[in-house]
Amino acid sequence: MRRLLQMIATGMACVAFQWGASAGAWASSLDAEHEPKRPVVEDEALLQKGRIHAQQKALVRLGDQTDSAADKVLLEQLDRYEAGDLPAELWLELWEAAAKRSNLEIKARVAKHQGEVDQSGDPLYRFRECLKGGDGEAGRQIFAKKPEAGCIRCHSVNGEGGQIGPELVWLRHSAERMNILESIILPNAVIAPGYASALLKLKGGEEISGVMQQENAHDVTVTSVVDGKKRKVLIEDIVERTPLPSPMPPAFGLILSKREIRDLVEFIAAGE
Ligand code: HEC
Repeated sequence: MRRLLQMIATGMACVAFQWGASAGAWASSLDAEHEPKRPVVEDEALLQKGRIHAQQKALVRLGDQTDSAADKVLLEQLDRYEAGDLPAELWLELWEAAAKRSNLEIKARVAKHQGEVDQSGDPLYRFRECLKGGDGEAGRQIFAKKPEAGCIRCHSVNGEGGQIGPELVWLRHSAERMNILESIILPNAVIAPGYASALLKLKGGEEISGVMQQENAHDVTVTSVVDGKKRKVLIEDIVERTPLPSPMPPAFGLILSKREIRDLVEFIAAGE
């Protein structure tokens, strides 16, 4: 069923368009609340030979287990992590599950891990569990529908969405996931080519700001971040140009959960 997406009214470009998705929450399919319990041995077996998605679910269930046998299994997985043997798709579930346990040895491992994250000078370090293993369909829902994300106000996918930021489809299968993660967490670290923002002072005193797109020797198209409207400005009319930060909100790392960020990375990197 196609339905008209209700656009987010936070003062940004409100472009109405259709998004071909069924209505529904953007909750990841790995929502712990929907995971019925199983005996620990079953989840232990899944972790040895299950598919990645089944292993993720096994870790979620182990985190919620009342049986303390779960602690032994989780400690084994923490050993695998430390040895570099645990697939990156499982890191988020492992640390989320470990954080729920009251076992002292697990608590010590969690504290040590947290200390490493806090001491790392790399702001992306704390998000490295978000590179792989996300749910692309959940990511698509967040991208298109979650008001706090609002990605689709500025980015289009398959021709639907805003024009302020670049179309992201071309990143699919080609880009490093680390670059996608960096673009979401630290939008100003690297500005996508052809999407620098600036404040322009024009002859006659008028000032306009926006994203500078399709610049050539003769003119530049300025897309307003306020209403998404494009305007062509002659280069010779520009008296002064002051660079501005990326209009992309800088705090997605605080606003969205790690799981949501991982789902977004998966959606952008690999589709649904
Ligand atoms: C207010 C507008 C706006 C919003 C909202 C926004 N972006 Fe952006 N985004 C931009 C602009 C403009 C750029 C290009 C400048 C830059 O690199 O920061 C960009 C760049 C990017 C890039 C890098 C693209 C490339 O070609 O390298 C990615 C990935 C991205 N955004 C993802 C997202 C995701 C995911 C969301 C939602 C969580 C989002 N954006 C929300 C405006 C926005």
